[in-house]
Amino acid sequence: MATPNQPNKPQHALVIGGTGMMAEVSLWLARTGYRVTVICRNKDRADTLKRTAPPDTLCTHLVDYNDTTKLTQTLTSVRKSSGTADLVVAWIHSNPEAVLQQVEDHLVQGQPYRLVHVVGSSSNLDAIRATINTPPTCRYQQVQLGFILEDTHSRWLTHAEISSGVIKAIKTRDDVTVVGR
Ligand SMILES: NC(=O)c1ccc[n+]([C@@H]2O[C@H](COP(=O)([O-])OP(=O)(O)OC[C@H]3O[C@@H](n4cnc5c(N)ncnc54)[C@H](OP(=O)(O)O)[C@@H]3O)[C@@H](O)[C@H]2O)c1
Repeated sequence: MATPNQPNKPQHALVIGGTGMMAEVSLWLARTGYRVTVICRNKDRADTLKRTAPPDTLCTHLVDYNDTTKLTQTLTSVRKSSGTADLVVAWIHSNPEAVLQQVEDHLVQGQPYRLVHVVGSSSNLDAIRATINTPPTCRYQQVQLGFILEDTHSRWLTHAEISSGVIKAIKTRDDVTVVGR
């Protein structure tokens, strides 16, 4: 019987937080040939993203990732319709370990995958890595958002800079990518 992830099928990417500063990451994945699933809450931003992506490449699911029951239902339904994920790109404000455990339990289910975890500038990468319970089948990468030092002052990253740093991490597969400094 055919399995959802056959070798000739496009790779499936889940992007958590893929409508905001990482919208360009979601669109780049869709244009690169991934089937993209985006989790977010705001319908307008989701619809805009969907309209901008090539036809039939990107699905959005409106769910609060802190709502355990709804997230479980959503991930299960995504797995049934689109198969397990080959790539997960995650920007999660609070309790990322719980959300990512749900992704592992209900979407990935032991299949090999890559997790690109985007974290803020004040995060301790080693401490985060220790709390994220990834199985041996997961290739875990971190992207740390920093800041830009200009002549007389520093500033936060733009959305374009953030997306381009995350895309670079997806391409290079480096363990740690720092965007800015
Ligand atoms: N070092 C830096 O330079 C740095 C670091 C971090 C942030 N920033 C800046 O700070 C700004 C604000 O950050 P932000 O986190 O608001 O970024 P954002 O990426 O613009 O928005 C957060 C993303 O996560 C989704 N999201 C948030 N909470 C969710 C939930 N409970 N359930 C499901 N999806 C959820 C949002 O979708 P919905 O809107 O649909 O919920 C959206 O896609 C950004 O614009 C960025 O430029 C800069």
